[in-house]
Amino acid sequence: MSREIVLITGASSGIGWELAKLFAADGSELILVARNESKLNELAEFLKKEQGTESMVIPMDLSESGAAQALFDRVQDTGKQVDVLVNNAGFGQFGRFDEIPVERHTSMCELNMVALTQLTYLFLKPMKDRDSGNILNIGSTASFQPGPNSAVYYATKAYVLSLSEAVHAELWGTNVSVTCLCPGPTKTGFGKDSEMEDLPIFRNNSMDVAKVAKAGHRGVRKQKRLIVPGIMNNLLAFSNRITARPVVLWVMKRLQPIE
Ligand SMILES: NC(=O)c1ccc[n+]([C@@H]2O[C@H](COP(=O)([O-])OP(=O)(O)OC[C@H]3O[C@@H](n4cnc5c(N)ncnc54)[C@H](OP(=O)(O)O)[C@@H]3O)[C@@H](O)[C@H]2O)c1
Repeated sequence: MSREIVLITGASSGIGWELAKLFAADGSELILVARNESKLNELAEFLKKEQGTESMVIPMDLSESGAAQALFDRVQDTGKQVDVLVNNAGFGQFGRFDEIPVERHTSMCELNMVALTQLTYLFLKPMKDRDSGNILNIGSTASFQPGPNSAVYYATKAYVLSLSEAVHAELWGTNVSVTCLCPGPTKTGFGKDSEMEDLPIFRNNSMDVAKVAKAGHRGVRKQKRLIVPGIMNNLLAFSNRITARPVVLWVMKRLQPIE
């Protein structure tokens, strides 16, 4: 029997890197995608040494127009069939909406939403034809409410959850699934890159990245609709659903203050 093939975007660090280790431990072959080629090669060599894993490295900026199609075509050309797609690449940005350069907003939307949507669309078709395959999309606890002072990031993650849950339901009765992993603050490069790392919400409540990846890996194996790792994150996510919107906005603005 041929080995399962898992494609992970944003595999050069953080949650994607940890997910790669977990799928490698299952005996899967990997396709590793991100911009940093040397980090991807480092991971591929590590997995080869530790698990005997075969990995294909594809350096690519997924925020560029046409990147998702180019990635799909590149994989098709190798004749490889992707069994699990992990849409993990993403970034955020702390700051007032009108003070963040519009280019940063735009590339966040391109990466967090457009590339994720197009990759889900492109890889879902062959999965449906085979009636087999899983997609794991990385949302966030930001998916559950608006985020003053990180408005675009929260909006992109609300989109990821909405899209994932809807397609998950469209696939009921098949052997194909879409799972959304919604982590809260997690110890990766994300905090520094998004300038959120000094916020109290980040400093006091950051989860270990290996635990978050493990929850996502378990969730996709069980074809779950939604995974929110950690008790505090679950409390935050679900209390927002029963709290009046102005109160939620007030709390979120206090949790992400600009002095
Ligand atoms: N850490 C958190 O607190 C947290 C919480 C909730 C959700 N998340 C989500 O989890 C996912 C993974 O983030 P992380 O925490 O693991 O952060 P991370 O360590 O910064 O990883 C982000 C990954 O995305 C890749 N990436 C960024 N821009 C890219 C681009 N234009 N094209 C291709 N790849 C790109 C990065 O690789 P290159 O730089 O090499 O391209 C990196 O591998 C993101 O979707 C994030 O929104 C994170």
